[in-house]
Amino acid sequence: MSLTRFPGFIDVHVHLREPGATNKEDFTSGSRAAVKGGFTYVLDMPNNPGAPTITPERLEEKIRLAGQKAICDVGFHYGTDGHNVNTFPTVWQNPYVYGLKAYCDHTTGELLIEDEMQLEHVFKAWNSEKPILVHGQGETLSTCIELAQTFARRLHVCHVATKEDVEVIREAKKKKQLVTAGITLHHLFLSPADVKRLGNFALVKPEIGGKEDQNILWEALQDGTIDLVESDHAPHTKKEKKRTSPPFGVPGLETTLGLLWKAVHEGKLEQADIIRLLYDNPKKIFNIPDQPATYIALDPKKPYVVGHDGYETKCGWSPFDGWELYGKAETVVLRGKTLVQAGRLV
Ligand code: DOR
Ligand code: ZN
Repeated sequence: MSLTRFPGFIDVHVHLREPGATNKEDFTSGSRAAVKGGFTYVLDMPNNPGAPTITPERLEEKIRLAGQKAICDVGFHYGTDGHNVNTFPTVWQNPYVYGLKAYCDHTTGELLIEDEMQLEHVFKAWNSEKPILVHGQGETLSTCIELAQTFARRLHVCHVATKEDVEVIREAKKKKQLVTAGITLHHLFLSPADVKRLGNFALVKPEIGGKEDQNILWEALQDGTIDLVESDHAPHTKKEKKRTSPPFGVPGLETTLGLLWKAVHEGKLEQADIIRLLYDNPKKIFNIPDQPATYIALDPKKPYVVGHDGYETKCGWSPFDGWELYGKAETVVLRGKTLVQAGRLV
């Protein structure tokens, strides 16, 4: 087996659920899933159920918990309900904070800003180099791009899913606006047939589009309109997913890298693209610090089957269960410490 070394990868969009829903994930299980998946740095989202990260106290609590429990580095995106703008200046100075997340369309959790005036207030108040991350599509996305332009804010568009949104982002980039975009692999890989077969287990926000959207998303990934890959790791229990109105989201930390190698295998991407999408661009866009003496090693051509050696995520399932992917992390070393050896967490 010939192993190739890569940098420890960065996932700028995960939901580790602690505090608030540690029955489905916590900093220990979520960071183990990250490391198993080849990531050594993850950025956690603020939509914790019942306890969204919208106050400096909650942020400090998360930093403390992650410091005690996580086996990789964890940074945070602060949240906003539109009423906490007075806390922004303390928060953006915090070195553990990498951005502000604004939920402008409905999804899991209670954070949602629908009022345009309130949104304007948020963009105006976040007077920081750190990006505003937006969950929003269509009209909402256009509004956010305009607001970012007006106030000269950096904007990162999360999980782009439609051809219309790709077009809007492409236009904004042409005008040299400070906008970047991310994409998930469930939006790229799950076909309409998969979505049908998986039912609630493929229910995510934004919704997974059809073949036409997917073709355009692949193009946008290849031509650089989309800057990075984010897992949007969103664990929910099987029990919750079986309900009539289940929560949105799928886990992704343990399959993102393998799916990207599958894309390389199929000639859709090149090895250099993986480094660009999971390391160079995330690092640059979110100003992620160096992790000295940190690397992963893998064989990009070696196949493995998702789920065959179980899951580290507490939710214990994947929409890609049984898929043949490639290039599982055989070795993960973080600051000189071996975390994965021969494909197993040590
Ligand atoms: O499907 C999703 N799940 N989309 C989101 O934006 C949130 C996430 C979650 O927290 O479960
Ligand atoms: Zn998310």
